[in-house]
Amino acid sequence: MKPNQKLDLPKKAQIQDMFDSISIEYDFLNRLMTFGNDVKWRKKIYTIAKSYNPKNILDIATGTADIALEMSKIEGSNIIGLDISEKMLEVGRRKVSKKNLSDKITLISGDAENIDFKNEEFDLVTIGFGVRNFQDLEKGLKESHRVLNQGGKLIVLETSVPENSIIKFFYFLFSKSFIPFMGSIFSKDKTAYQYLQKSAEKFPSGKKFVSVLKKCGFTNVMVKPQMLGATSIYIANKKD
Ligand SMILES: C[S@@+](CC[C@H](N)C(=O)[O-])C[C@H]1O[C@@H](n2cnc3c(N)ncnc32)[C@H](O)[C@@H]1O
Repeated sequence: MKPNQKLDLPKKAQIQDMFDSISIEYDFLNRLMTFGNDVKWRKKIYTIAKSYNPKNILDIATGTADIALEMSKIEGSNIIGLDISEKMLEVGRRKVSKKNLSDKITLISGDAENIDFKNEEFDLVTIGFGVRNFQDLEKGLKESHRVLNQGGKLIVLETSVPENSIIKFFYFLFSKSFIPFMGSIFSKDKTAYQYLQKSAEKFPSGKKFVSVLKKCGFTNVMVKPQMLGATSIYIANKKD
């Protein structure tokens, strides 16, 4: 779904404008809306990633570079963070340079659906809260698959809808009110947080997303639900 159905602009351009407009408050609202759990999820991704000992890492939809910063803790790693929002990248670059990590992390403008790298350049691709914003989900995932080495890993962190119907009821009660409400108070782009809630509801999560990953060439897909299934970590292999 597009952030604004009434606008004629393609989804990608709307997403770029939306993240440009919320880049300054993004980190703060992320912490607030997940009660700080987003930090824990990224640390979990680091723990999973570290066990694969990757050297060349591509963090797609890197935004303000939080996952890229976690990945930089892996010894000998080199990280490229890629995003279509230049303003999110600007925030990320400031964080990277403040931590003196500019020699390990490079943040570049780019599109997940047309990645400007050759085949099989990376040992690991990470995507945090990015896939549901892709204009063409399968195109984006096939591009991730293309740039991974044989045996490389994909780790995706994304919102999901809990499967248990009682938890699902409370999840919707909370997400439909709290997220847009907080967005309307703290963000200058009110529609952005309505979109973030609605897109989370519509996104094919859990088993449906596993099927999409397999369709895009990934194997051995694992799902690790977080926070009662309101978010999930997916781990997948490239093996032809
Ligand atoms: C919710 S933010 C996630 C940022 C970061 N990964 C995190 O964990 O906080 C989503 C990011 O995806 C980026 N994005 C959306 N579609 C993209 C695409 N086709 N190519 C590259 N980046 C994209 C947006 O610009 C935005 O910065």
